[in-house]
Amino acid sequence: MSPDQARPRIAELRVEVARHDELYYRRARPEIADFDYDRLKAELATLEARFPEEAAAAGAETPTARVGDDRAEGFARVKHRLAMTTLDNTYDEAEMREFHARLAKALGADELAYTVEPKIDGVAVSLTYERGRLTRAVTRGDGEEGDDVTANVRTIRGLPDTLAGEGAPNVIEIRGEIYLREEEFRRINQVQEEAGEAPYANPRNLAAGTLKLLDSRLVAARRLEIVLYGLGFQSSAFCASQTEYHALLRAWGLPVIEAFRSVRGIDAVWAAIGELDVLRRGFVYATDGAVVKLDSFEQQRHPKIGFRGMTAEGQAEAARKLSPRWACAYKFAPDRAETRVRDITIQVGRTGALTPVAELEPVFLAGTTVKRATLHNADEIARKDVRIGDAVLVEKAGEIIPAVVAVLVEQRPAGSAPYAFPTSCPACRTAAVRGEGEVVWRCPNPACPEKVRRRIEHFASKNGVDIDGLGEEVVALLLERSIIHSIPDVFRLRLDDLLPLKKSGEVWAANLIAAIDARRRADLWRVINGLGIPQVGAAAAKDLARVFRSLEALAAASEAELVRIDGFGEKTAAAVRSWVSAPENLALLEALRAAGVEPAAPAVSGTVFSGKTFVLTGTLPTLSREAATAMIEAAGGKVSGSVSRKTHYVLAGDDAGSKLEKAKSLGVLVIDEAELKRLLAG
Ligand code: IVH
Repeated sequence: MSPDQARPRIAELRVEVARHDELYYRRARPEIADFDYDRLKAELATLEARFPEEAAAAGAETPTARVGDDRAEGFARVKHRLAMTTLDNTYDEAEMREFHARLAKALGADELAYTVEPKIDGVAVSLTYERGRLTRAVTRGDGEEGDDVTANVRTIRGLPDTLAGEGAPNVIEIRGEIYLREEEFRRINQVQEEAGEAPYANPRNLAAGTLKLLDSRLVAARRLEIVLYGLGFQSSAFCASQTEYHALLRAWGLPVIEAFRSVRGIDAVWAAIGELDVLRRGFVYATDGAVVKLDSFEQQRHPKIGFRGMTAEGQAEAARKLSPRWACAYKFAPDRAETRVRDITIQVGRTGALTPVAELEPVFLAGTTVKRATLHNADEIARKDVRIGDAVLVEKAGEIIPAVVAVLVEQRPAGSAPYAFPTSCPACRTAAVRGEGEVVWRCPNPACPEKVRRRIEHFASKNGVDIDGLGEEVVALLLERSIIHSIPDVFRLRLDDLLPLKKSGEVWAANLIAAIDARRRADLWRVINGLGIPQVGAAAAKDLARVFRSLEALAAASEAELVRIDGFGEKTAAAVRSWVSAPENLALLEALRAAGVEPAAPAVSGTVFSGKTFVLTGTLPTLSREAATAMIEAAGGKVSGSVSRKTHYVLAGDDAGSKLEKAKSLGVLVIDEAELKRLLAG
């Protein structure tokens, strides 16, 4: 490339990368896969390094000199005590080895001690603990200053308010990644789609979107998690290496990376990376690579190592710290394959949502043959302009269903036409509807045969009452022969109904009847989950089962009782309330009862506080009074309004008044929220 060609390309790439930064960091709605983004950014960085004059002349600020910016409206801004940098990444083994060669040269040593950690694909956050207590949580922002997301971070269940044990400096910034498990991602996305909103492409984007919700009650209803690995500011030195730091984080009771390796030499690093690539498939968080760090903090601080910096124009200079040279991210290339779209079909969900699916020429990808990939919704098809006959790239990230990430437009066959989304339900021909501002088209017909089939399938599935042998095919067959029409019909099946369905199917039929029979007393949460109440996934179903203990009690639940459940927002409470007030749903519950379904209430596990009386006073840092009450009651305790000698605990927050005084004068044990959580955790 000549300098004359470089200049416009640099300018173009800067605009393009900056646009993708905005989509990724601020809106959590990226339009391209990380791999493609990394390629664009790497091309830009290469050109800037090769043509520094053209880069300077191209004028505008360059995204290679920034760490991205996630700051959003509505949050207070907080300066990091120590800047939050990022990492250079590579997909190339040779570059990884060059990273080591540079360090070895600078330090004059051949065999260096490294740590190898998974690179978690979440949202970076910096926590400040002062005298062992969590005082602040801040996003990376522009690296210097981020958004104060303390209230939202406090809703994370596995994150302690107080560090256990000793050894932490007075003030410490502990850094890590916030993520969502895949099952939680699926649950929320389903809710999102049912509500007609655009689903998120992956758990990281959904975690980012969640962390930036302004109402922390909504955040609490989504189960964010966190893992910690990094050190920011420290008021005094307290440890000598990443390995030691990792052990301390664990000892303080913080959630840490499990697959953490300390190794010597670059070959051992490479072996550990290979091992991670296998292990990561079993991790609860998405992992997009490995982070290799020089283990010794002293070596990290060595003057010859330092940071990569850039001026705003993309000139290499140590003006601003961007990424430390003591660490390197090796990214795993995504599992991708090229194939062709044979057809686009429409799937009708149990709520009537019409989801377009690409029917693909089968292609082998990440260990399985992929024949179908989701196209999400009409808007997504239009945005990518996916057409029948197109050559496409499909990607499979973790266990997430394969998705079409790009159309290879150069290979588009002549005469193809943009896809026209159907205007009616493919199953029952009812005109599809789309609510104001929604992205999802729906079949509004309550008796739509596809919706009925999906509901029965869901009820019988692994996450529902889990009826062995009642899978998609059998459900379809039973419906087709008009042997069943609804969920309760399943429990009325007799041997005679099944025998004609299969040649020499006696054993099959007897087994299925036995399996159905056995599930009449399925766990209550399974039945609740199987009902497909909007907003309710397995975790919420378990909460409902624990609190109400029967379908009858659930049917009578008031919205106030529902909101009190820890982790239930108003939206979930309203959805449950609305479901149980619909006559057809009450009829369904009654029909289940009549068909002999008697779900089993959960064993009373909450006995930590049985016989104990609590009094609440003041404002708790994270829990509402209702949530604290629900937690105490769930553990067998009782909450009372006034303090007496019979009170076991006074749970006190800020601005506690006379009740606290009385407790002290009576010698009643006073605890705070952190203490309560510790007691609950046993
Ligand atoms: S260490 C100086 N370790 O990936 C930055 N980062 O692409 C030190 N990340 O900014 C970061 N897992 O947000 C480190 N085990 C890990 C990580 C990790 C994920 C994130 C982090 C970082 C980004 C770089």
